[in-house]
Amino acid sequence: MASRSYLQALILAAGRSRRFNTEQTKLSFLICGQEMILYPTKLMQQLEIPTTLIVGHQKDIIKNIIDRHKIQVDYVEQKEQKGTGHAVLCSKEYWHADNVLIMYGDMPLVTKEIIQELIETHERTNATITFITAHNSDPNLEGYGRIIRNRDKITIIEKHEFKHNDPAQQCCINAGIYMIKRAFLEENLKRIVPSAKTGEIYLTELIRAANAQGLKVETVHQPFDLIRGINTLKELWAAEHIKRSELIAFWMSRGVQFSTAHNVHIDIDVTIGSGTFIGAGVLLLGATNIGSNCFIDAFAIITNTKIHDNVTVLPHSVIYDSTICNSSKVGPFAHIRKNSSIGKNSIVGNFVEVSASTIGENSKAKHLSYLGNASIGSQVNIGAGAITCNYDGFKKHQTIIKDGASIGAINALVAPVTIGQDAITGAGSTITQDVPDCALAIARDKQVNKEGYALKIKNKRKSDTIVKPAKEIFEQEL
Ligand code: UD1
Ligand code: CA
Repeated sequence: MASRSYLQALILAAGRSRRFNTEQTKLSFLICGQEMILYPTKLMQQLEIPTTLIVGHQKDIIKNIIDRHKIQVDYVEQKEQKGTGHAVLCSKEYWHADNVLIMYGDMPLVTKEIIQELIETHERTNATITFITAHNSDPNLEGYGRIIRNRDKITIIEKHEFKHNDPAQQCCINAGIYMIKRAFLEENLKRIVPSAKTGEIYLTELIRAANAQGLKVETVHQPFDLIRGINTLKELWAAEHIKRSELIAFWMSRGVQFSTAHNVHIDIDVTIGSGTFIGAGVLLLGATNIGSNCFIDAFAIITNTKIHDNVTVLPHSVIYDSTICNSSKVGPFAHIRKNSSIGKNSIVGNFVEVSASTIGENSKAKHLSYLGNASIGSQVNIGAGAITCNYDGFKKHQTIIKDGASIGAINALVAPVTIGQDAITGAGSTITQDVPDCALAIARDKQVNKEGYALKIKNKRKSDTIVKPAKEIFEQEL
């Protein structure tokens, strides 16, 4: 355990997420691509406050998220979920600092500045408890304790106890972030009696206890939107709206233009260079980086991908886990995935799928291709409808197309196969053998022209009462 210090944090993450009506804990749900529980834990990490996480319901899922992101926390288990006060009590062995900052795991929009102001106020006023409040005048707002001030006394009335029709109980709510002197916590938390209505031990009862003892309780008022708690999927949706707007506003301030910002989605780890244009309905997901002066047109979906500068991505392109180098052009309706890489100044055109493949510089696959497990050099031209036959039903095989090669339209390149440097393959070829450098490969049946035969078929069709398919007539006549 760490030596005594001014401050430590407890984050409550043991609850059952009942109001979510999903099987999985709400704290594992994503908000702009990041799990809910990572917001408060990363915040504490950023502020360098040693943190204990109280886990219980689906604790392994939560631990897994935290560990995967290498966030340093101590874990405490709350075996039975008997309320927020009980959750804090479960961690008493871990209380060591003079002040304990307590917050809930379901408030992802809280900022560093909010926490800093809370700490500063607590320090300056030397209060026993300092906690955050917010204003919300919606009388139907659910899920928040209400602040009742009576002269200089202050208490929190929990949802099961407050009266909707009492105006005094309506507008000021408890955010759920507290700074509490450890000595007070040790003395008082164990004495709180469970609610007669729910049987839960409410952490908020500590405010009443401090008041009763004539101790100083301070509040810090903050905007409601930033301290929202997430209890339902609807509230998750609302919080994500806010986070998304924040991210888009941030990128706008960095010189990124959005055609219709309200229908664009950007995850928290995405970066975008200045001078880039983002079209309608674009989704930028995961750890995607977009360079400067790019043009990302409508309805492109780009996930975990690095896009360098001056790249154009035309409408409806889908790109996963790949790299697109400078000045390349992708789409419309292109699909690039599985660690593919598109070299500088290259073109991957409409209805082209590139999977687990690399394409060099100044190469083109402009129409209707499938390029899978292919290593394609520079200055290569892939004709319309050319495909790599990379899968034999058991294993994937590689196609190598060397610099300067030209693949004819509607080619089937049966892998494993290598097309040599500056080689050409004829349109309609099925290439099953390697093509040497500079060779022309033609692999298709010779054409047979039967003079006048088309007319014969047409006349026959006219005279037949039952129209037969041309193939049948052709076979009979031969
Ligand atoms: C709580 C506050 C309420 C405040 C609101 C702000 C209490 C009694 N009420 O209500 O005053 O306005 O937050 O959003 O504190 N948890 C546990 N163990 C439990 C119960 C909950 O770890 O036994 C955790 C949950 O995982 C969650 C957090 O505590 O992260 C808050 O619990 P929740 O049930 O959401 O409290 P609210 O009803 O929102
Ligand atoms: Ca809550």
